[in-house]
Amino acid sequence: MKTRSRLLLSLFASIGLSLLMGCGKKSESSAPAPAASGAAPAKIKIGFLVKQPEEPWFQFEWKGAEAAGAKNGFEVIKLGVTDGEKVMAAIDNLTTVGAKGFVICTPDVRLGPAIANKAKQNGLKLITVDDQLVGAGGKFMSEVHYLGMSATKIGESVGTALAGEMKRRGWAANETGVCVITFEELDTARARTDGAISALKAAGYAAERIFKAPQKTTDIPGSFDAANILLTQKGDVKHWLICGLNDNAVLGAVRATEGRGFTADHVIGIGINGTDCIDELRKSKPTGFYGSMLVSAPQEGFNTSEMLFKWIKDGVEPPLDTRTVGIFITRENFEAVLKKEGIIP
Ligand code: GLA
Repeated sequence: MKTRSRLLLSLFASIGLSLLMGCGKKSESSAPAPAASGAAPAKIKIGFLVKQPEEPWFQFEWKGAEAAGAKNGFEVIKLGVTDGEKVMAAIDNLTTVGAKGFVICTPDVRLGPAIANKAKQNGLKLITVDDQLVGAGGKFMSEVHYLGMSATKIGESVGTALAGEMKRRGWAANETGVCVITFEELDTARARTDGAISALKAAGYAAERIFKAPQKTTDIPGSFDAANILLTQKGDVKHWLICGLNDNAVLGAVRATEGRGFTADHVIGIGINGTDCIDELRKSKPTGFYGSMLVSAPQEGFNTSEMLFKWIKDGVEPPLDTRTVGIFITRENFEAVLKKEGIIP
């Protein structure tokens, strides 16, 4: 054992020495030198784990991660982790295949301590994206590197845009209701819907006409069901404003209003993400889904994985907390904005 560890030590020392000697700007951007055996050098591998692999948002994050891999010469292992067991198994699998770290949007933020511990035990670097980990006592694990939306601000822009469009259409306040599809157990979701509500109130909207409809699952069926319950209770509302955690929250609610005969003229839904409403905005006939606050998912995937790679390869620790902002898209401008952001070709 001793001889082996000495051997390893001297191997590391000589690698360190050659890095020190040959570490010009060039070697930083290019792949590591081929091994003495002549075999192709192994690429650094990172995992990119997402809670809802079927959601376009996460598929666009993966695209961005792969673009960062192609640019920097690292490999991205994409894994869908829909529950806690899958997360733990994925971290072990990453270790087995020699990955050096992973980016994760966890299916449950309360898995935070378990994820951070396992990453540490397995010697993997960890960056969280979108949903910030929560530790003991319900506090954010601010010691774990995180990149995500400025949730409150983005929610506020949704509220302001809803109020503005309602005013433009001249809807009477006492005939209008706000359907807020909520998912309050997730902090970033709560911050977004709270932001929308506070901006609506700031624009003069009456608090008693703002109705929360909690969704059980963060997908279209989940918000469809939540909205249907509310629509049944509030049969006298003539015009609906709709907001929620993301595009799918709003899409489900818009489908529910359609089921009750509301047309685009009586519904203003504004989502968040901008990635999950492309087909909707492309429909030849406008629907109640009016627009979305677009945040660049490819950029988030690119930046988190590149930060992780540089941390692994060069020891450059990323900032602990990075926030991204949104751009408002509607049927008028979405093609141009999405093209510019590299989301559609
Ligand atoms: C959460 C949502 C996603 C997306 C991201 C963005 O994870 O579930 O749809 O909005 O936040 O940070």
